[in-house]
Amino acid sequence: MRSYIAPLVFAVLGAHAALTPTPTRRWGTDSSLFASTKDGQFIVNGSTFKFVGTNAYWLPYLNTDEDIDNVLGNMSAAGISVVRTWAFNDVTTIPEEGVWLQLISNGTAQINNGTNGLQRLDKLVELAANHGIYVLFSLTNNWNPIANETADPLTPSSTPLPRNFLSNDYGGMDAYVREFGVDKTHDEFYTNMTIRSFFEDFTQAVVSRFVNNPWVFSWELANDPRCNSSVPTADTCNTNVVTQWHADVSEFVKSIDPNHLVSSGDAGFSCATCSKIFPLQPPPQPSASVSSRRKRSPVPAMSKARQAKKVAEARKRSVNPVPADGVRIRGRWVANKEAKRQTAGNSAVGTANDGSTGVDSQDILNAPNIGFGSFQYFPDQNSYAGPGQPAQPTNFSDLVQQGIDWIQQNTANAQAVGKPLTLTALGLVTQDNFPFFIPFNGTTPPPSNITNTTDPTSSSLSVRDLLYTPVTAINGTNGVTQQQQSEAYQAWFNAALNAGVNGVMTYQWGAGNLTSAQGTVVQAPVSGTNTVSQGPAPNDGYGGVA
Ligand SMILES: *[C@@H]1O[C@H](CO)[C@@H](O)[C@H](O)[C@H]1NC(C)=O
Ligand SMILES: *[C@@H]1O[C@H](CO)[C@@H](O)[C@H](O)[C@H]1NC(C)=O
Ligand SMILES: *[C@@H]1O[C@H](CO)[C@@H](O)[C@H](O)[C@H]1NC(C)=O
Ligand SMILES: *[C@@H]1O[C@H](CO)[C@@H](O)[C@H](O)[C@H]1NC(C)=O
Ligand SMILES: *[C@@H]1O[C@H](CO)[C@@H](O)[C@H](O)[C@H]1NC(C)=O
Ligand SMILES: *[C@@H]1O[C@H](CO)[C@@H](O)[C@H](O)[C@H]1NC(C)=O
Ligand SMILES: *[C@@H]1O[C@H](CO)[C@@H](O)[C@H](O)[C@H]1NC(C)=O
Ligand SMILES: *[C@@H]1O[C@H](CO)[C@@H](O)[C@H](O)[C@H]1NC(C)=O
Ligand SMILES: *[C@@H]1O[C@H](CO)[C@@H](O)[C@H](O)[C@H]1NC(C)=O
Ligand SMILES: *[C@@H]1O[C@H](CO)[C@@H](O)[C@H](O)[C@H]1NC(C)=O
Ligand SMILES: *[C@@H]1O[C@H](CO)[C@@H](O)[C@H](O)[C@H]1NC(C)=O
Ligand SMILES: *[C@@H]1O[C@H](CO)[C@@H](O)[C@H](O)[C@H]1NC(C)=O
Repeated sequence: MRSYIAPLVFAVLGAHAALTPTPTRRWGTDSSLFASTKDGQFIVNGSTFKFVGTNAYWLPYLNTDEDIDNVLGNMSAAGISVVRTWAFNDVTTIPEEGVWLQLISNGTAQINNGTNGLQRLDKLVELAANHGIYVLFSLTNNWNPIANETADPLTPSSTPLPRNFLSNDYGGMDAYVREFGVDKTHDEFYTNMTIRSFFEDFTQAVVSRFVNNPWVFSWELANDPRCNSSVPTADTCNTNVVTQWHADVSEFVKSIDPNHLVSSGDAGFSCATCSKIFPLQPPPQPSASVSSRRKRSPVPAMSKARQAKKVAEARKRSVNPVPADGVRIRGRWVANKEAKRQTAGNSAVGTANDGSTGVDSQDILNAPNIGFGSFQYFPDQNSYAGPGQPAQPTNFSDLVQQGIDWIQQNTANAQAVGKPLTLTALGLVTQDNFPFFIPFNGTTPPPSNITNTTDPTSSSLSVRDLLYTPVTAINGTNGVTQQQQSEAYQAWFNAALNAGVNGVMTYQWGAGNLTSAQGTVVQAPVSGTNTVSQGPAPNDGYGGVA
């Protein structure tokens, strides 16, 4: 099985051998196996823990346990100690075959706790533990472009795509918004308490399964949460809306599971001038949260009665919060005039740092129940993030430097809060991978004439060029060379480690020779039926080409 990650990881771990912790205890009832934090570091087994990890959102949804086991074995052999994956898989109709976790349909949500449901997550964690790999579970996704399975810009009558073909086709926030939203704007996921309670019910069903399992590294509230998405936001959404949601939901997760860390999963956008809910000065007031101050203990979940009470309290606070710098209008947060003015202005720094994404990562990180910080780096996506985004560098050294700057900026912001930080997803599209690249706002699947997944370059790139603006246009090509990707990753890993980032996770792991069947997530030919016997893992432009 081929993966481009292995040599890189070895090189980085080799250069930082001191980071590999010595296992000191046996796993059993030992609470020290749970990841915790102290003085801005992760602690596992009583030692500081810095990790190299990777992403594989499709991992729990492979057809066979053997495939999952093989992939984990290959990861472990490459020095991976944490894998980040999706603990959500929302559908709007129950698929005939394959895994689904939640049906969101007909005004309600139904959780699948069967063998093709939440039990797949149990299996993943069990197998990961065998390989000494921790699982970082993300609970929902900001992005949910719908693949219209009958529409095709080129050949409208083409065969429908298999489910889960697209990177983000696992449901997420917009699946809730489409079903339950009143105005059908993305921010209703954060502000509507009916939607909140559906999400919390799902979250409780997932989280409660692993309260005593230390091989879950942490709970990530969402992949890349922000105001806007594939479903547009209302313009009343701002950083306070998103931060308040994090404060509420992280408290909810901690009320169910005090043993595990909770993180945001945000991309690292910042906003120095935005109004704060958790200002650094004066120091945060953790009195609103009992769980944040509780010493982590081996004691399992709190009693049902106590839990119910806490949940009720949390919901009450959610419904009637006291905003730091805003007012509540028809269920929505609206920042005060000054905050809004500051948020809207300052466009010189680009959308990444002016609050217009709705993300103030430092304010989120300073929420009492957020245990560590997250950020991402996907330079190929910059040109899709909206007006005002910095221009895509066309020079390789500028591209590398932009990444280093981003890493250092995020590290400084996290260190000011005093909590650990992870570069949760990092990816650069290569020329080989460009035919698979789907920008995050894409709602259109790859052109139907990519018919041979083992030879993607045989398809017409010019068709993709029409659909998607070229990405890292280094020397006029779509995507960088393998060598450049490797150089850039090395530079960013080193920058992260030197700056004090506590974990780095590439996006994403590639795997080949996976068993395929109806309902699988194995990447199938775009045309024809999904009945190949073997295939590579889904590739959204960032996977290893197997
Ligand atoms: C898939 O299996 C074939 C035959 O067993 C082997 O030659 C090939 O290297 C494998 N490919 C990957 C990506 O593991
Ligand atoms: C912690 O100890 C357990 C049991 O010895 C081991 O399996 C695990 O890999 C250790 N974790 C770390 C991060 O060292
Ligand atoms: C990696 O996966 C392949 C199957 O694709 C398997 O043959 C091999 O044993 C795995 N490697 C490890 C180290 O588990
Ligand atoms: C939703 O309700 C309609 C009408 O009762 C029914 O036909 C359909 O099967 C339901 N969908 C799901 C996914 O249950
Ligand atoms: C699934 O959930 C239902 C409803 O809560 C419960 O009755 C059933 O025992 C659960 N099944 C499993 C396998 O956990
Ligand atoms: C999907 O595409 C088909 C063919 O273009 C079209 O008829 C249908 O209305 C589309 N469905 C949605 C939900 O947009
Ligand atoms: C929240 O969503 C529910 C379900 O659609 C709706 O009944 C309710 O009015 C919404 N609340 C607000 C404040 O918009
Ligand atoms: C949100 O995204 C939509 C496209 O989905 C775009 O038209 C709109 O300008 C964006 N809004 C903001 C506030 O970025
Ligand atoms: C994605 O965003 C880019 C840049 O804003 C825009 O040009 C493109 O049309 C968008 N694509 C879709 C499918 O919304
Ligand atoms: C771009 O092309 C120039 C001139 O051919 C060359 O010197 C440079 O190394 C190339 N840069 C990259 C990143 O390939
Ligand atoms: C797909 O491409 C591979 C590699 O070029 C080739 O060996 C194989 O025959 C092709 N398959 C089909 C069905 O064209
Ligand atoms: C793919 O489709 C485009 C547009 O119809 C066509 O120009 C191109 O030749 C096709 N490529 C292949 C490899 O069939």
